[in-house]
Amino acid sequence: MKTFILLSALLFVASPYIFEKCELAQLLLRHGLDGYRGYSLANWVCLVEHESGYNTRVVGRNRRGGKTVSSDYGIFQISSTRWCRDGQTTRRRNTDDSCGRSCQDFINENITDDIECAKKVVLPQGMNAWYSWKKKCKQSTLTKFLKECDV
Ligand SMILES: *[C@@H]1O[C@H](CO)[C@@H](O)[C@H](O)[C@H]1NC(C)=O
Repeated sequence: MKTFILLSALLFVASPYIFEKCELAQLLLRHGLDGYRGYSLANWVCLVEHESGYNTRVVGRNRRGGKTVSSDYGIFQISSTRWCRDGQTTRRRNTDDSCGRSCQDFINENITDDIECAKKVVLPQGMNAWYSWKKKCKQSTLTKFLKECDV
């Protein structure tokens, strides 16, 4: 039993799928999100904090009448209704502007494609596309949000 617990702990440490805030901020900065479509880096980090808690493996299910009608994937909670394919969602007909990827691509540790997709999601209606950004970040003062980060 002890061995098992130790092993689980090691596996947990060895698989960095939950980002640290400042580590994520660095990555988003490097991929050009600071100021993208007019949104400062703090907005993007706030968005990720409230959508997924920096956890790349989060899948959010949207249920209606006990059935899953669509799902949201990864740190940006990218939706299967329009932006990625999960084989379970009835998608909108006009999906030419989707990110052209499997939703599974958004729940691995490589967030490069997540970032590229978020850059598309933000185009039509800005960050209002994300409910938790509207609710938790939009009206907030975010200047102190990245104070302890070297960005
Ligand atoms: C991450 O994904 C991108 C785009 O899909 C790819 O170009 C890159 O090589 C991947 N990086 C790693 C470390 O696998």
